[in-house]
Amino acid sequence: MTRTVFVLNGPNLNMLGKREPGIYGGKTLADIEADCRAAGAELGLTVDFRQTNHEGVLVDWLHEADDGAQAVCINPGAYGHTSIALHDAIRAISPPVIELHLSNIHAREEFRHRTWTAPAAKGIICGFGAHSYILALRAAGELIQ
Ligand code: DQA
Repeated sequence: MTRTVFVLNGPNLNMLGKREPGIYGGKTLADIEADCRAAGAELGLTVDFRQTNHEGVLVDWLHEADDGAQAVCINPGAYGHTSIALHDAIRAISPPVIELHLSNIHAREEFRHRTWTAPAAKGIICGFGAHSYILALRAAGELIQ
């Protein structure tokens, strides 16, 4: 059985590598994608890795995951803090959704402490830098055993 996991990335994550490396680390999104593909191969998961700066595109991809994936890992970026539409899209689909962030959002500005997506997600991983993606993929692999 194919076990497909969508790894979805929201706004500004295409800037990783040069974007505030003291907070987000020095890896580019392409580096993280390569790490996810390697981890996916070890875990027996097909990784479909995407990034967009547009909220509605993330909504469309979550809908696509309903039939197209067994689990979703999502770094919603700042839309996690603002988007009821993403909350609703996560609730609308069947596959488990794991929210992740590179930084520990609870150790940062107060406006980052709340995410509207987290209560709709199966769980949330944050604060482990690029390794948050690998931990999220491992969780996805266990959820779809
Ligand atoms: C982030 C944390 C968000 O608060 C921020 O808006 C981002 C990145 C992270 O991965 O740490 O864009 O999601």
